[in-house]
Parts: sequence; structure tokens; C-alpha cells
Amino acid sequence: MTLYRNVDELDFRFADLPRIEHPDRVLMADPRDFECAYAINPHMVDERGELKRVDRELAVRQWRALHDAFAASGLTVDVVAPLAKHPDLVFCANPSLPLPRELFADGRPRLVPSRMAHAERRGEVDHVVAALRALGYVVEPLRGESERLEGMGDGIWQLGRALLFAGVGPRSDLAAWRELAERYPVRIVALELVDRALYHLDTAFASLSDDACLWWPGAFDARGRALIERLVPRPIEADADESRRFLACNAFSANGRHVFIERRCERTIAKLVAAGFDVVPLDTSEFLKSGGSVFCMKLAHGPL
Ligand code: ARG
Repeated sequence: MTLYRNVDELDFRFADLPRIEHPDRVLMADPRDFECAYAINPHMVDERGELKRVDRELAVRQWRALHDAFAASGLTVDVVAPLAKHPDLVFCANPSLPLPRELFADGRPRLVPSRMAHAERRGEVDHVVAALRALGYVVEPLRGESERLEGMGDGIWQLGRALLFAGVGPRSDLAAWRELAERYPVRIVALELVDRALYHLDTAFASLSDDACLWWPGAFDARGRALIERLVPRPIEADADESRRFLACNAFSANGRHVFIERRCERTIAKLVAAGFDVVPLDTSEFLKSGGSVFCMKLAHGPL
């Protein structure tokens, strides 16, 4: 449909966007092989440049607690089998982008496999895509030349509306989003990411309800900030320090009421509570070492 890069181009109102259903399901990936085995983002190394050490047992407990919190909230949780030598598989939001069934006349949801920016993660894609195909997705790869697209690391659906926010920068190219905008009946808002520590859109922006988002403006250029401010009725600013250190914006809400978020983000949590959200704090310390937290540890999707 249309790719937007500038406020002047906006030709729709938020409230007029077609509705899509809230996610009722999440895909997670077995954390068996999780570790920091290479550094592809600044979180993965310490001050001396050495790879961070993950406490695998603790990581598995944290993963299990997240799994159980999702299940307890009523979400159906599917789990992808582990894949040897793929320590980042646990961030299973990244290898693909789901498009909800409401967009298609045949009522079948589509899945676009990612083109991972780093060779270390490319092997995850077929593995995750196979699991989602088995759930009923129609798989539709990119056709164009664009080199990089990291699914639901950089593609974030507005909760309840057919609008996709799309990160451009370290992991995804504008050309990939342009191809998707041309191919699908969906409006895509491209947002340039300017802070290396916030390398996926999901580290700087989360859609929390029909009208609210959590974001850290410092991760965007002036154009991106203006787009978010114009489009989202109730933007909630995350704490700057918590955004960069604890990935405060890597938060998730499936129903517009409960927000899952890393528990160290105390100032951000206080703001969310003041804004009326029910916060579910979770410990993701081991996954923060790899540059991920609550949002990217699962792929959320609507009814299939
Ligand atoms: N180590 C992984 C990477 O750099 C972490 C990915 C976390 N995902 C996210 N969307 N923030 O790719």
C-alpha cells in the first residue's frame, strides 16, 4: 500500500485504520544453546571488549518464567526445538515477519522470512519459518535485492490496527520495507534508528495499546520522532538510562492492559503504572547480555 517516511506524507488518521485482532499466541524457542558466542551488538561484550558470560541455568529459569507468564495471561505458547550452534535462536521474533490474516481476502496469514544482517544468525530462519508454516502460515519470501530484513526485530505491529512500524538502520534496509509496502495492503511507517545500542526497532519502541506506545525518543532522528508523535495518541517516554542498559522498550502487551517488561526498569515501570497499565515485571538479566529481553524472546501473532 504505502511507505511513509515523513509527517507531511501521512494521509490517514490513526482512528481510521482497519482493525486487526490482538495477538492470542506466541512462539518461543528453546534456550538450550543460548550464550554470547560472538558479538553482533554492543551489549554482547563488556568494557574490555570480551564476550559476556551467560549463566545458562539461570537463563533457562528466566526463560521458563517468561514462558509461564505468557501462558498464565491466556496466550497460547508454541515452542520451537533448539538448533545446535545457534545461540541467538531464543530471540525468535527476529527470523520472520508475520502479516495478520485480516489483510488477505483468503483469510490466511502470511509470513515473510527475514534476511538476517549477520551470517551467524542466518541458519535460524529456515528453522523458525518451518515451525510457523506448520501452524498454517503461507510463506512469501522477499523477491527484491534488499539485503537485510530482521522481521519482528524491526517490524512492529500497532496493537489492534493494520499499521506496521518499521525500523531502518543496523539490521533492516528501507528497500525491504518498500517492497513489503508495495506488495501488501498495509501502511508501513519507516523509522530510522540512530543509536548503536538500540539496533532493532523493538529496543526503542513498543505498541502497548490501541492508543499508547512506549518509546525512547533518543533512538530516532527528527523525522522518526515527528512521525511517532503525530501518529500515536499517547506516547509514553521510557527512562533514557533504562532504555539503553535494560532495554526498557523491549516490552510487550498482547491485550492493551498487561505489560510484560524487564523488572530492572523501575522508573519506566512507575510511569506505566501511572498511565494505568498492569505491569508484569520479569527478570531477563541473562538475555540482556545478548541484547534482548521480553519482546524479542517471542514472536507474537494473532489468530491463525
Ligand atoms: N544477540 C542477538 C542479536 O544481536 C539479540 C537479538 C535480540 N533481539 C531484539 N530484537 N532486540 O541479534
